[in-house]
Amino acid sequence: MDQLIAYLPESEGGLLTRWLFFVSVVSALNSVQAYISPNYTSMLYSNGTVPASPLSGRVFGTWTFLSAVIRLTAAYNITNPVAYNLGMWTYGIALSHFVGELFLGNASLKGRFLNPLIVASGSLAWMFTQRAAYLG
Ligand SMILES: *[C@@H]1O[C@H](CO)[C@@H](O)[C@H](O)[C@H]1NC(C)=O
Ligand SMILES: *[C@@H]1O[C@H](CO)[C@@H](O)[C@H](O)[C@H]1NC(C)=O
Ligand SMILES: *[C@@H]1O[C@H](CO)[C@@H](O)[C@H](O)[C@H]1NC(C)=O
Ligand SMILES: *[C@@H]1O[C@H](CO)[C@@H](O)[C@H](O)[C@H]1NC(C)=O
Repeated sequence: MDQLIAYLPESEGGLLTRWLFFVSVVSALNSVQAYISPNYTSMLYSNGTVPASPLSGRVFGTWTFLSAVIRLTAAYNITNPVAYNLGMWTYGIALSHFVGELFLGNASLKGRFLNPLIVASGSLAWMFTQRAAYLG
């Protein structure tokens, strides 16, 4: 456990760095699930009512993994404006995408789909309001 903690971003970076780290790990795991089964993507976007193609599952997994890498970079370089802004972009893009799916796709405001919406909007708001504090 102590060894694991040693790999965490500096605690002086505050709760936000831990959060970015946590979301990165969860995103990476989701990415693996999306690769393993298109059902994961279908359950997330439409509670299984609309099947996801194996390709769309892998594309979702790839995009999610890219987001995880950027968020991890931001967690370890929280005072670097480039990393910070890219981290914010991952949430901004994710939020636009997920909100768009409510209108263009088969997603609705319930069930599992609420998780990415809450995480993306909450993290974006958090990073946006703390930007000056971290970047000085
Ligand atoms: C998809 O996964 C859910 C659990 O997440 C399961 O209940 C459902 O039966 C699965 N559907 C298919 C088609 O495998
Ligand atoms: C980002 O963080 C890593 C790990 O702490 C460090 O090695 C690297 O120098 C940092 N990069 C920048 C640009 O600050
Ligand atoms: C999924 O969305 C498409 C495009 O909006 C729509 O044509 C289709 O009927 C929807 N399917 C279900 C099961 O809601
Ligand atoms: C998801 O679908 C199952 C049936 O397949 C249903 O029992 C459940 O209530 C649905 N969940 C949501 C949040 O719509």
